[in-house]
Amino acid sequence: MHITMIGGGYVGLVSGACLAAFGASVTIIENDPSRLDCLLKGEIPIFEPGLKDLITTQQQAKRLAFSQDLPAALRKSQAVFIAVGTPTRRGSGHADLSYIYTAARTIAQNAVHDLLVVTKSTVPVGTGQQVAEILRATRPDITFHIASNPEFLREGNAIADFMHPDRVIIGLENSTSPSRALLEKLYAPLTTPENKLIFMGLESAELAKYAANAFLAMKVTFINEMSDLCEATGGNIADVTKAMGLDPRISPHFLQPGPGYGGSCFPKDTQALATTARHAGAPTQLIETTIAANNARKHRLAERILHLAGEQITSCTIAVLGLTFKANTDDMREAPALTILPLLHEAGATLRVYDPQGMAGAQALLPANITYCSTPLLATKQADILLILTEWPEFMDLTPQQLEGSMKGRLIIDYRALWADRTWEDTNFTYHTVGNYSASPACATQPK
Ligand code: UDX
Repeated sequence: MHITMIGGGYVGLVSGACLAAFGASVTIIENDPSRLDCLLKGEIPIFEPGLKDLITTQQQAKRLAFSQDLPAALRKSQAVFIAVGTPTRRGSGHADLSYIYTAARTIAQNAVHDLLVVTKSTVPVGTGQQVAEILRATRPDITFHIASNPEFLREGNAIADFMHPDRVIIGLENSTSPSRALLEKLYAPLTTPENKLIFMGLESAELAKYAANAFLAMKVTFINEMSDLCEATGGNIADVTKAMGLDPRISPHFLQPGPGYGGSCFPKDTQALATTARHAGAPTQLIETTIAANNARKHRLAERILHLAGEQITSCTIAVLGLTFKANTDDMREAPALTILPLLHEAGATLRVYDPQGMAGAQALLPANITYCSTPLLATKQADILLILTEWPEFMDLTPQQLEGSMKGRLIIDYRALWADRTWEDTNFTYHTVGNYSASPACATQPK
């Protein structure tokens, strides 16, 4: 089976390469010339562990190709996936669907036979029907089937999430749609032994994606509030989350306090869901509060740094380890660093930063005269304060001795509780983290 994947971004590249690995013949259409040039040269324009090897393997197996020639790709495709961006529209919380509509129109104008059109991009409920209307109004001579197939890929873990999903959600216009058989064939490796494919109506599938992301964003925001409450009352957030997580209805996942959620999905999807809900007359107060609480947290944590630095802030050098919105990605979108660092810079602090993957992206987004360092210990060199914003595993290799030899000051502010299980008492560092996080629970029974 041949399919076309429109969009060579985080979702399109991973989905196209994985569907090729499942046996389909895939053409990924990328209309950004520089991005396409990069892909045709065998380079991958994003950081996603394992993606380069997977793409190379599929290209060598002649199951994966990159192109900008949509007409040629459509001529040999039974199905076309729309995996273009749906960013938040400036000035409103709405998702910008212009790329979706353009893709729909271009598909219609170039279709030469009946076609299944699948939206994989995260789109507000009702978009699938709008795409169907565009297709059928443009080409009444062609039979178009519509489906929604939202992705649940976490950046940094996307290939595993695609290959071993908890579920594959497929929304169809009606239960008799012939699309079901085609999609079952496409996802054949996931239909046995336990059937991961869950079929439902278009609108349910579109909503399920937003509901899942908004719930996860709310869960993270909840635990961040519990973390603040621990700080105010002497609790230990590690103990609290352990106690909560033992209830399978809560689960231990997504209970790690941090500087607030970021990324290309949670901020965009919570905004879009809240806006859709408000316009539908069913406002989601919980999600609106989550958005406000998450934004406020990033500002509040910046204020905390300023408070700890005190008057010295204007002569203070702060080393920042981690810029991306989370580890194992190069993605800077809505990263807490983009809120926190400008506030520190504005207060007069000197910033020296390091991130394993995010520095190129960060430079375009952060204030000028920030020093970008090629290693963590160059960033900490002569720094008064060390701030950890992203939980990159390599930061675990840094020792207090190394930091002592590198830093001038002795204040560590760890917003990811990365080093919370270290004993800092026998060093001359002052270690601040979130939620009085101490991985060795306060009341743990001491070994005899
Ligand atoms: C998310 C969803 O997990 C995924 O299913 C969807 O398809 C896309 O959006 P992603 O944005 O890549 O994936 O990141 P994720 O790992 O979910 O983390 C989202 C944000 O929450 C990050 O900023 C992360 O740092 C934060 N987070 C996550 C926490 O602060 N604590 C946690 O315990 C988990």
